Amino acid sequence: MAQLEKLAALGRMAAGVAHEVNNPLAAILNYTEVLLRRSDTRPESLPTLLKIDAEVRRIRELLTDLLGFTRDVARSAGPVELPSLAMETLHLAAPEFKRRRVQAQLLADPDLPPALGEAQGLKQVLLNLLLNAAQAIDDRGGHVWLGVEEAGGRLFVEAADDGPGVPPELAGRIFEPFFTTKPEGQGTGLGLFTSAEIVARHGGRLRYEPRPGGGALFRFDLPRA
Ligand SMILES: Nc1ncnc2c1ncn2[C@@H]1O[C@H](COP(=O)(O)OP(=O)(O)OP(=O)(O)O)[C@@H](O)[C@H]1O
Ligand SMILES: [Mg+2]
Repeated sequence: MAQLEKLAALGRMAAGVAHEVNNPLAAILNYTEVLLRRSDTRPESLPTLLKIDAEVRRIRELLTDLLGFTRDVARSAGPVELPSLAMETLHLAAPEFKRRRVQAQLLADPDLPPALGEAQGLKQVLLNLLLNAAQAIDDRGGHVWLGVEEAGGRLFVEAADDGPGVPPELAGRIFEPFFTTKPEGQGTGLGLFTSAEIVARHGGRLRYEPRPGGGALFRFDLPRA
């Protein structure tokens, strides 16, 4: 579990860094292009500018390859049985739940049609949501519900808890990279950012809303296989 958490944290860290590095890279490419187009740029500077352009593009490609930062899941996507994926993830999070006296429940019809997606990525999303819920509940004890249902030809996954929920004034920021309310060294603030990115790659959207009755509720949709 500890090893898995470390790996997941490393992945989230890398994805966040890639996101932050991509913006300045895009700016450098823009400025280089401006200089390349300007008529008063000295001709002897052109080869240097072209080299800058090529090297920056190389970094960008490297990041893309390294992190699979592409909005296209078509290549690796396949049918995913969400109830059993949810079950596996609950097992992974079980030690954390036990430590914090959290009771977890899965609400899913086993006959649901499969979703179209990348099992590994979706598992990471579920694990992020479950660990967030457990961490929010702290060690006061509480409940976590994981639900899967079908509506209007799409699959909906819900992760809810009866912890403190997100303070309304912070709710608009929780999907930002590096946004965390956890003490230093305990959260990188990349869990939700990365999860939203993975869901978006599937053509879905991850949202937060306060849970009726108290706590947090995260919900996302996926296409059917
Ligand atoms: N279930 C929840 N209940 C209450 N607050 C939550 C919940 N899930 C997320 N949050 C809030 O959103 C913030 C961002 O969550 P996110 O998963 O992105 O980062 P993190 O958990 O702080 O760090 P990590 O990168 O380790 O996941 C949290 O710090 C917390 O304040
Ligand atoms: Mg988190």
